[in-house]
Amino acid sequence: MQKLRNAPAWSELEKLAPLVKRHHMRDMFIKDPARADRYTLGIAGITLDYSKNLITQEVLDALFELAEQRELKKKIKNMFSGKAINVTENRAVLHTALRNFSGKSVKVDGKNVMPEVLETLAKVQSFTEMVHNGKHTGYTGKPIHTIVSIGIGGSFLGPKIVTESLKPYWKKGIKTHFVANVDGCHIQDVLAQLDAEQTLFVMSSKSFSTQETLQNTLTAKAWFLQQGTEQKDIAKHFVAVSSNVKAAVEFGMDKENVFPMGDWVGGRYSLWSAIGLPISLTVGYKHFEALLKGAYEMDCHFQEAPFEKNMPVILAMLGVWYRNFMGAQSHALLPYYHYLRGFPAYVQQLDMESNGKSTTLDGRTVDYGTGPIIWGSEGTNGQHSFYQLIHQSNLPIPVDFMFPLKVHNQDDTHHNMLASNCFGQAQALMQGKSFEDCLDDLNTSSLNEAEKLNLAAHKTMAGNHPSNMLLFNEVNPKTLGALIAMYEHKVLVQGCIWGLNSFDQWGVELGKVLGNDVYDMIEGDMSMDGIDASTEKLIKHFINNQ
Ligand code: F6P
Repeated sequence: MQKLRNAPAWSELEKLAPLVKRHHMRDMFIKDPARADRYTLGIAGITLDYSKNLITQEVLDALFELAEQRELKKKIKNMFSGKAINVTENRAVLHTALRNFSGKSVKVDGKNVMPEVLETLAKVQSFTEMVHNGKHTGYTGKPIHTIVSIGIGGSFLGPKIVTESLKPYWKKGIKTHFVANVDGCHIQDVLAQLDAEQTLFVMSSKSFSTQETLQNTLTAKAWFLQQGTEQKDIAKHFVAVSSNVKAAVEFGMDKENVFPMGDWVGGRYSLWSAIGLPISLTVGYKHFEALLKGAYEMDCHFQEAPFEKNMPVILAMLGVWYRNFMGAQSHALLPYYHYLRGFPAYVQQLDMESNGKSTTLDGRTVDYGTGPIIWGSEGTNGQHSFYQLIHQSNLPIPVDFMFPLKVHNQDDTHHNMLASNCFGQAQALMQGKSFEDCLDDLNTSSLNEAEKLNLAAHKTMAGNHPSNMLLFNEVNPKTLGALIAMYEHKVLVQGCIWGLNSFDQWGVELGKVLGNDVYDMIEGDMSMDGIDASTEKLIKHFINNQ
């Protein structure tokens, strides 16, 4: 494929960028009252208003043309059909098969994976039901009432954020904890709250080789055996999810208690697989299935809708516009819904572990920006913190606002205030406040002229800051599934434009390997010969002072 910078649409966008920078969105709305209608679309219970973006129709057309020139349609087709698009690991990328309700087969190397997908789903369903109806009990016959999910990265964030977001759907009587960090404070804090008789540990590790997860599970197991239990009781209280069933069994898991997953599911895309077991155990299988169905609806939309009406494509291409032509280096997610407060952290892993790369598929170093820094936190808290920088610094930061139209246990006053803050912030970012208006406000003040001019300069807000507004009918399993799938597909689209493999994570691997070596050095099992002086000094300082 030709270099990205040589794509004709890229040159067109380079020409448009300085022209568009001269426009103000305030004027665009005045000149074009139909703008909000034209740049709004809805799918799967999600409405996207992208009218508050610094774009013209010409820009959008060129962005969609760029997607054509980068062969996005082919990329989408290849992913859904099971081609090994994760080329550096020679693997298919098939999280979409896990929520494929079409009844059609999906083949990897000529083999239909759907029977194994459905078999695992059935296992998740029956185990969930057995825990909930008391057929699977703890070793003393008491029902399970606490789930402890142990995993990290994709084997943690997806289940945790979905579970947290679906609080109104939690099964009565079930409490779920998530432990990821190898920092012993976390697991010890959780263990201190548990009753061994009624606790189920779910160990989630695709590779079954992740240090944090193995150690936390060993600690949990040791604690369990100190509670007056015997080795044989472990089978009732420990289950595992992994693509490495052999390693799980060697570790001591009962084979029956291992939920398998295909190696064609990337860690950060795996919540739809048996990695979602803690979700199912917390909200019930019915709601877990609804989550998958929401994602499936987004998958169908993504495959079928033309680019200009395709939600993930639109969001992705707007991101490319800001990252490559408008100087943005980061992108903020601002959910106005307390239960979605962890969502920015989820998308952070999804996006940054996928597109935080600078080597193209054909091994060249990129000469353009790739994945942005993803960050953010819940509104309105952020308004009293980092929003200041978005409003008045000179860093361009596009944002996605998120707001549910309906919430459970609705208190109208609170909900109306939340809505007004969310919409008001988007409006303020877009329109800003001119120097003249700020000066006018100071007309009646007792300040002298010079002081008024100075203060007005400080109060001036340039505006013209782009935002997308994502409205949900409500955050239920279905809309949440669709929302997550939408961000997954956004990542695929951007990776395609930038020519990246969005599905490996070599950058993470080196840290893991060196971390293991350092551990052996701390334990005295490996010589420090040949390591850099700084690391050697740190290790010695730690050993001598711990
Ligand atoms: O942090 C890197 C990573 O490889 C993620 O991609 C993955 O989700 C996580 O580690 C955990 O891996 P595993 O599920 O194999 O324990």
